[in-house]
Amino acid sequence: MDVQAKARDMLSRRQPGHSLERGFYTDPDIFALDMESIWYRDWLFVTPAAAMPKAGSYVTHKVGPYRVVVVRGADGEIRAFHNTCRHRGSILCKAHQGQVAKLVCPYHQWTYELDGRLLWARDMGSDFDASSHGLGSVHCRTVQGLVYICLAAEAPDFDTFAARIAPYLAVHDLTEAKVAHQSTIVENGNWKLVWENNRECYHCAGNHPDLCRTYPEDPTITGVAPDGTFPPKVESHFQRLEGLGAPSRFHMSDDGQFRIARMPLLDGAESFTLSGKIAVQKRLGQVPVLDAGTLLKFHYPTTWNHFLTDHSITFRVTPISPTETEVQTTWLVHKDAVEGRDYDLENLTVVWEHTNDEDRRVVEDNQQGVLSPAYRPGPYSATHEDGVIQFTDWYCTTLGNRIDPVRLAAE
Ligand code: FES
Ligand SMILES: [Fe+2]
Repeated sequence: MDVQAKARDMLSRRQPGHSLERGFYTDPDIFALDMESIWYRDWLFVTPAAAMPKAGSYVTHKVGPYRVVVVRGADGEIRAFHNTCRHRGSILCKAHQGQVAKLVCPYHQWTYELDGRLLWARDMGSDFDASSHGLGSVHCRTVQGLVYICLAAEAPDFDTFAARIAPYLAVHDLTEAKVAHQSTIVENGNWKLVWENNRECYHCAGNHPDLCRTYPEDPTITGVAPDGTFPPKVESHFQRLEGLGAPSRFHMSDDGQFRIARMPLLDGAESFTLSGKIAVQKRLGQVPVLDAGTLLKFHYPTTWNHFLTDHSITFRVTPISPTETEVQTTWLVHKDAVEGRDYDLENLTVVWEHTNDEDRRVVEDNQQGVLSPAYRPGPYSATHEDGVIQFTDWYCTTLGNRIDPVRLAAE
């Protein structure tokens, strides 16, 4: 059966409010369809701009077979290119990140400017046109220090998203940040299981002892408030922070692809540390009080984030195979903060290093159980898992809308 027809059948059998059927988490055909329908079409968060502080700083990324290099030009502009040489296709930049004067192919040393133009190619003859052999560009946009790419020939709208989140992020000064630490782990689970786990805190009390010192397991904090209302405590938190100049009110896009809101931490907590106190004395951002909580942003399919009053943390999700997903976490601090003086790296990172590892374990356990032929979709808790329901609804709606209707009609 054609994969699109298979997906359509699976979507039509779906039980609302239940986890997805097994194939959505295991089937290589569905994985390929996810990549084609979502990952090669949507805007993908790739890196904080702070990872590329100077002209010639670059970051590489791999999405399916696509390899991309994101590089800061001499003009300060961040651009993205396909990481494949226009001579015979060699990969150009192999490291995850680095610093170069030009992009030089390791094979025959064709040399490209940081803006992608081919500068030099040895002995290619007098009729060789260098101007038609520049690097293939990839759509690239930066909003408030967050760099996104899109692999599609025609990128979907980015401006609406950027305009909506920019005021929330402006007070966090991500353009003044540096990378304090980055961790990259592989979770042996489907990318949707990684997201489902992220979108609820039903599992937090049983799995995240460190995170639970500061992060409320209250489902209104993690979820999506389907009726648009919040408890008085959260409402007054929004009002107080907005009054102090820090945009906070919950917003979710009409299609459910992104959500942003500044949510309170537990009483007395300031940041994600074991003590609950801020981790960085030279703070990143302009939020005027320490108990402002965390600005939560999710943006399917690639990223969730915590923007705190002293530092910020970005998370990047990348599918590798039906049962493997990379999760990269980046801790950002003020560029003038000095390790050992303004912050202790262990204190800054321990809560989310532990939390990521705990999440890896529960996602892997989830995947192992789902691989059993005895697995059946089970009911989500309407109280605790409305965020998961929202994610699977978004996924199923998005996939359903993008299954090629012409090919379906021709079957
Ligand atoms: S493949 Fe890059 S220079 Fe030959
Ligand atoms: Fe978790």
